[in-house]
Amino acid sequence: MLEIWTEKYRPKNLDEVVGQKTVIPRLKSYVKSGNMPHLLFAGPAGVGKTTCAIALAKEFFGENWRNNFYELNASDERGIDVVRVNIKEYARTAPIGGAPFKIIFLDEADALTSDAQAALRRTMEKYSRTCRFILSCNYSSKIIEPIQSRCAVFRFTRPSEEEIMEYLQRIVKGEGIDIDEEALRQIAYVSEGDVRKAVNTLQVAASFSEGKKITLKTIFEATAMADPEDIKNMVGKAMNGDFIEARKILDKLLIDQGLSGEDIIKAIHRVVIDEPGIKEEKKIALLERIGEADFRIVEGSNPRIQLEALLAAFALI
Ligand SMILES: Nc1ncnc2c1ncn2[C@@H]1O[C@H](COP(=O)(O)OP(=O)(O)O)[C@@H](O)[C@H]1O
Ligand SMILES: [Mg+2]
Repeated sequence: MLEIWTEKYRPKNLDEVVGQKTVIPRLKSYVKSGNMPHLLFAGPAGVGKTTCAIALAKEFFGENWRNNFYELNASDERGIDVVRVNIKEYARTAPIGGAPFKIIFLDEADALTSDAQAALRRTMEKYSRTCRFILSCNYSSKIIEPIQSRCAVFRFTRPSEEEIMEYLQRIVKGEGIDIDEEALRQIAYVSEGDVRKAVNTLQVAASFSEGKKITLKTIFEATAMADPEDIKNMVGKAMNGDFIEARKILDKLLIDQGLSGEDIIKAIHRVVIDEPGIKEEKKIALLERIGEADFRIVEGSNPRIQLEALLAAFALI
């Protein structure tokens, strides 16, 4: 059976979590004291919110942590009924096996309607003797104020490229993968701080390479991603007024490699942002044009025409 690496290599304790340098010590201090308040984990996807909730449960409850840990996803079972029925049912019974409390982990809590949040708030108060809530969300501003003020708020941030590399190296070692350093760095770079995405990309590349060495090229092929060198080249040619050459590269990306207009625009955007050789005023003008082309492509306009128009605009700027 195919094992999913995000699960296989999910950190087993708080020490294995990468990044989150302000979060981890605070969580550990709860474990040390044997108690914790309700918690609110806010931050982007794939940076360790669920992982930390599970790790906390393991540290508090030990081997049988599952007995006292209840996870539900607010966006699957949206609305007030979930809070009324499921959570209450679970919250009202005593913790099992002498644990000091149970943990209810409510993922994507910002998907709850404000009515459901109000009901949740009452439940949190009523059962706070036996239950601790951990709410996770992308934006804490979407959680009603009375809940926020009852929780200790933790802001999860995107781990750095180095931190993601460190984590990927563990998997590389564990799986005995043969991979170039620059390929691994590329995975960390394109994941933009989303560790889940980085792990999934590594797994796709590994299955794509069928045991052979994973190179930078493997990554581009496996992920249907534009090679930044091609994009840099294309943008450079366009900016130097060599429109014909720029267009040739565009054709290669669109036709030979079958990349989508949206993927190419995204790659152009990143190259322009990261390229130190482009002056600030120029960057601003380019970004504005990129934004416009992106919008039009998303709205269903012909990607090839839009990308050609973009290259033409680059030549004029
Ligand atoms: N900070 C991190 N340290 C180590 N692995 C991480 C981290 N964040 C995410 N991961 C990896 O990504 C997977 C998904 O992380 P998860 O905690 O579920 O993210 P989310 O913040 O979306 O809840 C984990 O199983 C793990 O493999
Ligand atoms: Mg999660």
